Amino acid sequence: MENGQPPLSHVVPPEKLPRHIAIIMDGNGRWAKRQGKPRLAGHEAGSETVRRLLGYCRDAGIAYLTLYAFSTENWSRPPDEVAGLMNLLGYFIRKNEAELLEKQVRLRVIGRREDLPEPLQADILRLERETEHFERQLLIGLSYSGRSEIARAARRLAEQVKAGTLAPEAIDEAAVAANLYAPDVPDPDLIIRTSGEMRISNFLLWQCAYSEIYVTPVLWPDFDERAFRDALLAYAARDRRFGGVKV
Ligand code: IPE
Ligand code: IPE
Ligand code: MG
Repeated sequence: MENGQPPLSHVVPPEKLPRHIAIIMDGNGRWAKRQGKPRLAGHEAGSETVRRLLGYCRDAGIAYLTLYAFSTENWSRPPDEVAGLMNLLGYFIRKNEAELLEKQVRLRVIGRREDLPEPLQADILRLERETEHFERQLLIGLSYSGRSEIARAARRLAEQVKAGTLAPEAIDEAAVAANLYAPDVPDPDLIIRTSGEMRISNFLLWQCAYSEIYVTPVLWPDFDERAFRDALLAYAARDRRFGGVKV
């Protein structure tokens, strides 16, 4: 019970809880600017939000959480911001290693990991291996974009056709989905974007087909338990029809 609020596990009935939440963590730069601080201070504050969020998701019983941390387009930012973000990501992984192991969370990185600095790739791989048997999952999009994920899937399918293991007429939606980064993970039920921007910015383009989208004006470093509750409540009130009709 926080501020007279029910615990996160009781905010919505279990059948109204999203199984998979995906978040476009936006607004770090604006948060820093408002405080008269460098953009990197915003990213640091944003990484604290991620630590807190892991607790909210655990308390609420969310099975899958995907975080968009760095897009393929984010490489075009000033070199010092990119370098600062890469350092911060490495620091985040190392700092949270014990916590993820203790809380039994499986870490997976989706995206063009080959673009990342090698020490960061090594840290990621180690933690992925250490946690691969856990059920609850944290996916992090690093050098990720939906288009590059789909292009990669097309490339992999073409290789299978070339090798004679796949017939072109066998390429259907399931075949494409099977060649995405995390084919076994269900599509996100809820996509949250902070900082008020009403766009998807190349996030999970294939998987978002029927995701509910929730945009909050809250900037990512300010995203707190109340903001998380509000998102769960908004999702629970949605009427998901998947193109059908209610009878
Ligand atoms: C999100 O915050 C973090 C990343 C994209 C890495 P921004 O850095 O995009 O913050 P704003 O949008 O400039 O406020
Ligand atoms: C989306 O935020 C990418 C991440 C949160 C990692 P951006 O700030 O890069 O997106 P735009 O430029 O506002 O579309
Ligand atoms: Mg932004």
